Amino acid sequence: MTKKRKLLVTSALPYSNGPIHIGHIAGAYLPADIFVRYHRLKGDDVVFICGADEHGVPITIAARKRGITPQQLVDEYYVLNRDSFAGLGIKFDNFSRTSLLIHHATSQEFFLKMHRDGKLVSKESKQFYDEEHKMFLADRYVQGTCPHCGNTNARGDQCEKCGSWLDPMSLINPRSTISGTVPVVRSTTHWYLPMARFQKELEEWLATKKDWKDNVMNYCGGWFKEGLGDRAITRDLEWGIPVPLPDSEGKVLYVWFDAPIGYISATKEWAEKIGEPERWKDYWKNPECEIIHFIGKDNIVFHAIFFPAVLMAQEGYNLPSQIPANEFLNLEGRKLSTSRDYAVWVPDYLKSFAPDILRYTLAANLPENKDADFSWKMLQRCNNDELANILGNFINRTATFLQKYFDGKVPENVKLSADDEAVLDEMRLGLQETGDLIDHYKNRQAVGRAMDMARAANRYYDASEPWKLRKENMERCAAVMYTCVRIIRALNTVFFPFIPFSMEELFSMMGFEGKLEETPWNEAWKLEAAGLKINEPKILFSKLEDKDIEPELERLAKAVERMEKEEAEEKKAADEYAKAAEEKKASGETPEGTISLAKISIEDLEKIDLRVGRILSAEAVPKADKLLKLQVSFGTEERQILAGIALYYKPEDVIGKNVVAVCNLPYRKLRGLESQGMLLCACTEDKVTLLTTDSPEVGPGTPIQ
Ligand code: 2FM
Ligand code: ZN
Repeated sequence: MTKKRKLLVTSALPYSNGPIHIGHIAGAYLPADIFVRYHRLKGDDVVFICGADEHGVPITIAARKRGITPQQLVDEYYVLNRDSFAGLGIKFDNFSRTSLLIHHATSQEFFLKMHRDGKLVSKESKQFYDEEHKMFLADRYVQGTCPHCGNTNARGDQCEKCGSWLDPMSLINPRSTISGTVPVVRSTTHWYLPMARFQKELEEWLATKKDWKDNVMNYCGGWFKEGLGDRAITRDLEWGIPVPLPDSEGKVLYVWFDAPIGYISATKEWAEKIGEPERWKDYWKNPECEIIHFIGKDNIVFHAIFFPAVLMAQEGYNLPSQIPANEFLNLEGRKLSTSRDYAVWVPDYLKSFAPDILRYTLAANLPENKDADFSWKMLQRCNNDELANILGNFINRTATFLQKYFDGKVPENVKLSADDEAVLDEMRLGLQETGDLIDHYKNRQAVGRAMDMARAANRYYDASEPWKLRKENMERCAAVMYTCVRIIRALNTVFFPFIPFSMEELFSMMGFEGKLEETPWNEAWKLEAAGLKINEPKILFSKLEDKDIEPELERLAKAVERMEKEEAEEKKAADEYAKAAEEKKASGETPEGTISLAKISIEDLEKIDLRVGRILSAEAVPKADKLLKLQVSFGTEERQILAGIALYYKPEDVIGKNVVAVCNLPYRKLRGLESQGMLLCACTEDKVTLLTTDSPEVGPGTPIQ
């Protein structure tokens, strides 16, 4: 008797800013549900946790676009997404929400403990700020021209065209994607988790994980090699969990800090719901429990490095035992795009098709080790050629034969032949091997192994020829039909994790006793069936015609047309930029020798952060007859600049002037005073003239390009 396992299984908390699509399902939900259903049948103690991730900037933006509050938006998607999961048979023990009080309190507790224990540091930094929407802009909400390739739609963190990682401040013509306006630079202070302090412990812990997937280990190896840095865990935002410290108004916990803690608060909520409020500890704080996070590969760093570090900074929490991260799912050979509506959305799917067809097709094609592709033809094939023609066929021929010739009653007191015993043994082996594959996160193989059992069943039926036996040897015929029902019982169990709806239907159609979800996995092949009375047979899997999937293909074709048009426009803009850059470069060669021999690249030039500044005050510097000490405004920021212009300007002459400053030089000390920038001047032998602008359109902070 193997020991029962205690498992806490989680699926990534989906953001509540849009519906669920098949990419989500293939990444973190279906594999988890299959795993959970299997382990329940094995008799293990499993709690399956998920919930809505209801914080973060995208939610505030989506709400603003719709003219509703973030709370209204997340309320709407909570219901929609909860129902999508239920519709697909993804059966969580609790689908919680991160906007609940229990989650706010748990996250704040985590933060406060780390703060109390001196595990956090506070730092000031400069960030783009959208003045129209009065918000700091996360890197990806700043767009501009990529300084490397000229892509006019590069995001502040990365250019999707050339793949460069970007510093948002390096974007040319930066604009806020939220308001479309030019953002300004502001200083802000945040709390950071210095991840370097956890690196050694994390590396040692991960080194013990010999059976983790390559993608997880490789990502982590890459992060460790680069060296873990400080991670900001607070944000300036109105929507989120307030930072529980004095003087923190307008600051909330970073969504990736609170979301994984959501697994814990959702377990607490579950424990409360079942009337045992302390039970959550039996999973999170009991070292016997294995915690398994099902996620997509884009979430690896947060689950394998960041969240474990947060847990290490608490007391007595289990770290994850497994993180079976899946790769991405493509659609008809292209990347899914939610913003361009190139996806199969679960609520739409469920309006026209049965959930099990999608479950089966996805399970058979999961992106377990590499990206995989989903197509409607594949779904049609999986349904028609496998579910209907193999599994459905065996069930149907057995049930109709029994109905017709045995009055729907499973024969009793039969004598099994060696062939009967052999096929039942194949069922025993099939259950065991399929189970092992599920347990090792190999669902593609597992579903194939289960379908092989159905193939073996059909072979047995064909070889036994019950339609002949009926006329020649009724005793053998009865034994064969009895064996077929025993086979169905095994198939019923082995397919339950993959296609639960059809298997529930099958269970009641066959009149099996007890409950399907309580059938012991290993015993399913040997459960007695003699004497059962089956109900009216019905077709479990009907064929899908071409006309059934055509509207879906047409919809996607339209989306592709749209995307290709947009891509062509982007390419055109990038080509024009590249051409202009080339021309600039070429024309720069004519005056060679007259102005400057040394050439710099456009990229070099673009590195210089030139901005308009307004001189607010000016004073002489004692014992430095050439220097003036200036306070210069750059819009939202003020800087002290020491300029070598005192021989040519009196302090009162420069106050109020709009000047041009280099803003990204390292600060330096002159006569013990810090200079935080440099003003541009035109220099002749006998005069230095400040470059100024009096254009009313260019206020302090305007970038110069
Ligand atoms: O990528 C996402 O959809 C995130 N909302 C996943 C969060 S997983 C967990 F940490 F909550
Ligand atoms: Zn680029």
